[in-house]
Amino acid sequence: MLVRGVGLHKVFESGFIAKRKIVAVDNVDIEIDKGETLVLVGESGSGKSTLGRLLLMLIKPTRGEVYFNGLNLNKMEGKELRKLRQKMQLIPQHPEDALDPRWRIYDSIIEPLKIHNRVNKSEEKEIVCKLIEMVGLQEEHLSRYPHELSGGELQRAVIARAIALNPKFIVCDEPTSMLDPSVQASIVNLLLNLQKKLGLTYLFITHDLELARVISGRTAVMYCGQTVEEGKGILEKPLHPYTKMLVNPLDIDIELKHDTQAGNQVGCKFYHLCPERSNECLKRPEFVKSNGRTVRCWLYS
Ligand SMILES: Nc1ncnc2c1ncn2[C@@H]1O[C@H](COP(=O)(O)OP(=O)(O)O)[C@@H](O)[C@H]1O
Ligand SMILES: [Mg+2]
Repeated sequence: MLVRGVGLHKVFESGFIAKRKIVAVDNVDIEIDKGETLVLVGESGSGKSTLGRLLLMLIKPTRGEVYFNGLNLNKMEGKELRKLRQKMQLIPQHPEDALDPRWRIYDSIIEPLKIHNRVNKSEEKEIVCKLIEMVGLQEEHLSRYPHELSGGELQRAVIARAIALNPKFIVCDEPTSMLDPSVQASIVNLLLNLQKKLGLTYLFITHDLELARVISGRTAVMYCGQTVEEGKGILEKPLHPYTKMLVNPLDIDIELKHDTQAGNQVGCKFYHLCPERSNECLKRPEFVKSNGRTVRCWLYS
């Protein structure tokens, strides 16, 4: 196992006047094996990005632990953590977040290598050229600024920068959701090819179920900060009532039900909308294993 989160919990405080607590990630256990892709699905606001950032230790958990290759990241500080970060990268939803608008693409791609003293002047050009070739960019793109690239080209540049340090683990946070469908497919293919070629481990976050099916592999469904179901083929044969609803939205408005109130209740977070609820669901369900998957639902306990 390469990446492991244990009891991860993240509370944000927000609001100017009255401080309000938002439980973005609620006691999540997660494991990702070396070389595998764990697809994380869930509607907007369910805590996917926060979980991804916690696993990279880009934000600190309120509670819980993160292990990378058996090392406890909670116990690491400054220099040590920065060194390990080379092995863990983020490809964000908005590629412009990862690139400095005032820098040429060349400088953005070479920067991580410079920071970590991994390159000397004479090899720079060769390394950058190799990287852009791997992601399907041309030399002419290198002298441009981010605003002079298309969305797809920009995301390729971000990917080149992300793989520059030979990472082991990459959190792909909805890396194609801002792109046109045709471009989307080419970026997804690029990511999957790079994974094979470089032996990468992915946490692939998406709210697009079609895309989740294309990537396949093990999938985890997130709802109100918790993972509610996890395993292979869960989108084809969902067990949890929420996953069923996600797969077959029927007539219930999924946007409507996501209120933070749900996060405060003691029992199952899906209680208020669940067509299969019973009194038992007023108590919080734990994860149980059922036919090779794990489900957080009293129906299977
Ligand atoms: N830095 C932050 N400060 C306050 N609240 C945040 C912050 N980041 C995320 N949140 C809140 O945490 C919840 C989960 O957000 P997020 O992880 O971005 O969800 P997703 O990626 O699934 O859309 C949301 O209610 C969001 O508003
Ligand atoms: Mg997100």
